[in-house]
Amino acid sequence: KGAAVVLVAAGSGTRFGSRKQFVELLPGVSILDRSYEVARSVSSNVIVVVPPDTVRSISARYPLATVIAGGSTRTESVRFAIPALKELGCSFVLVHDAARPLASHGLYLRILESLKEGAVAVVPGLPVYDTVKRVRSNEVLETLDREELRRIQTPQGFKLESFLQAYGQVIDVSDDAALFERCGIKVQVIQGEEQNIKVTAPGDLDYVRVALTPGSL
Ligand code: CTP
Ligand code: MG
Repeated sequence: KGAAVVLVAAGSGTRFGSRKQFVELLPGVSILDRSYEVARSVSSNVIVVVPPDTVRSISARYPLATVIAGGSTRTESVRFAIPALKELGCSFVLVHDAARPLASHGLYLRILESLKEGAVAVVPGLPVYDTVKRVRSNEVLETLDREELRRIQTPQGFKLESFLQAYGQVIDVSDDAALFERCGIKVQVIQGEEQNIKVTAPGDLDYVRVALTPGSL
């Protein structure tokens, strides 16, 4: 029975300087609004995870969504969505960072397509163009093989049954797929999107606003 989307938007935006998910991209349209709109175009089952003190106002804003309170880490925020996910009873789950408002409808569909073809875990990835070195206390330890590196994005898609098992591990990870890697489950990589940046620092907003200017993408 289709896919549910978990949109994680409960962060505090430490690097950005404020709760970036609520910053307006266009008059009356926040980063979260934009991410929600795309998620909603893919599935009618969207779970939005937000800071506890905003649950009431966000529920009122998105009456068709399931809005829940997040936790103190991203992993915890995703974990808090599990009861609602079980209730929806979908076959697949797509987890997306609300801080990536430019992920396309098409990218979601390609993730979903791989799941329907039998993949258990699917993530979008892009090549790395810079040389990447491992460094400790300002001293280079080694240069990594760029050919093997990818910049990983969201939405990340999973078979729900496996997702629930993977989240049985109580550890903190930076993306959901890491929990699958730790169990030795194969994670498939499909082509990501250059435009699909994660708004992290204030300067990233300029990129997003330009991208949303009609005719620029
Ligand atoms: N997130 C969340 N709950 C948390 C932390 C993060 O739902 N406790 C969400 C963020 O809202 C964001 C996504 O996870 O949509 C990716 O996190 P990140 O870009 O790191 O956002 P923040 O954690 O808010 O930013 P920072 O790390 O700079 O504080
Ligand atoms: Mg964070």
